[in-house]
Amino acid sequence: MAQQSLTAAVRAGASDAAQRIAKHLSPAVAKSSDFIAERAQGTYVYTTDGQKHLDMAAGIGVESTGHCHPRVVKAIQEQAAQFIHAQQNIFASNVAQVGLLDRLLKIVPPSLTRFFFANSGSEAVDNAIKVARAHTKRQNIICFENSFHGRTFGAMALTTSKTYYRQGFAPLMPQVVVAPYPYCLHCKVRAAHPEGDSWYKVQPNVSPYDPYSARTCCNGPVESLKWILKQQSAPSETAAIIVEPIMGEGGFLTPPPSFLPALRKICDEHGIVLIIDEVQSGVARTGKWWGHQHVSGEAVEPDIMIFAKGIASGFPFAGLATRDNMFDGLALGTMGGTYGAAPLACATANATLDVIEDENLLQNSTDRGRQLVEGILRMTDKYPIIDVRGRGLMCAVEFGGHDGGLSASPGIAAAITKAAGKRNMLLLVAGARESVRFLPPLTVSEGEIAEALSIFGDCLEEVFGISHMEAASA
Ligand SMILES: Cc1ncc(COP(=O)(O)O)c(C=O)c1O
Repeated sequence: MAQQSLTAAVRAGASDAAQRIAKHLSPAVAKSSDFIAERAQGTYVYTTDGQKHLDMAAGIGVESTGHCHPRVVKAIQEQAAQFIHAQQNIFASNVAQVGLLDRLLKIVPPSLTRFFFANSGSEAVDNAIKVARAHTKRQNIICFENSFHGRTFGAMALTTSKTYYRQGFAPLMPQVVVAPYPYCLHCKVRAAHPEGDSWYKVQPNVSPYDPYSARTCCNGPVESLKWILKQQSAPSETAAIIVEPIMGEGGFLTPPPSFLPALRKICDEHGIVLIIDEVQSGVARTGKWWGHQHVSGEAVEPDIMIFAKGIASGFPFAGLATRDNMFDGLALGTMGGTYGAAPLACATANATLDVIEDENLLQNSTDRGRQLVEGILRMTDKYPIIDVRGRGLMCAVEFGGHDGGLSASPGIAAAITKAAGKRNMLLLVAGARESVRFLPPLTVSEGEIAEALSIFGDCLEEVFGISHMEAASA
């Protein structure tokens, strides 16, 4: 059936569609709404019930250039007419991929000069594990608490942000050790510090507040990691440390500037591969090409960097960028995949990178991120917001308790995203604590951020009541 008639049919029989969805789709996929997506443009999504939604989720940080950007659509159409699938084992490369290599070399950290392409973040993570193990001839992988690296068996074993991502699926991939990640808001050392609370407060991450660059650390997570290397995972058996520079699903935890340099130093000392997972924080999301460039006080370069999501505006595409020698140790044929590096995906990525550059989206991410954070900060007097974190258009808000403490009522974040849904704004929760995250398209306009802030304020009012803080202090 042609697209138009199918849309009309689904619209006409919307309840029937709902029944078919309930009956035939996997019930194990969590859904945050009952809407059936019909079409989308820019920052707005239209559903079959005739509603228009402001999109502050962008497909979980995927539609970097906005929905259906005309240049991205044109690139897909042109490439589809020319060559859809040039399989990577059959050809040395394809024209779109050759173009993409040139593009990527200009934006990845300079020491990363080799690439491997896949179709999803999880698949790229699994391949990074293979590369690190084969390269070092070691087995263990150290990951961090609150991390999310994906749902395939390798990536799932490195995922600790919520138990439900892995529960029931054991045995998991072995030889994984979990280390603590800085979560300064809930850090016990900070809480015990005489100036702890006044020093931290809500963490605005934009100029002129910008305390991140000045933020010191108790160094607890790095100390723990050093003990892990003495007690649980000998350096000579540790292949890699894998880290998200800003935790994505885990709640946009943003480490102090000393953290990533400390990881780099430990890896250098012991010949351990440093894998930086930029699946959610990469491709201009934070206002720089890569999130790690934003949160490390000094230049830190990974040995392997993983990218996906925003790289191709929603077309499934992912990859690894590595140091030149990283693939030494991998026998011919040990990596591959039917669909990886296909022309349609590469052409979409090329168009996406063109749009990001030509429309100055790094700057837009910084400016609109700042507008968003400043707007949220204005709400902190009225509502129990205890943290605003992230960078650029990767911004999360954590809620505390009605008593002014750090523990929110369970379900508050979901209640806020539900309230947003009622007001036609798509918003996501993040992490095991009570946080929501904003991940709009990087093309989002000033007016759209203002609209999102206004809706967000209404949602907080609905969930917490008009004068929550006044009531708490009375
Ligand atoms: C940091 C990070 N790594 C890996 C993944 C897995 O990516 P995918 O869902 O494309 O498999 C995600 C997905 O959210 C992610 O945020």
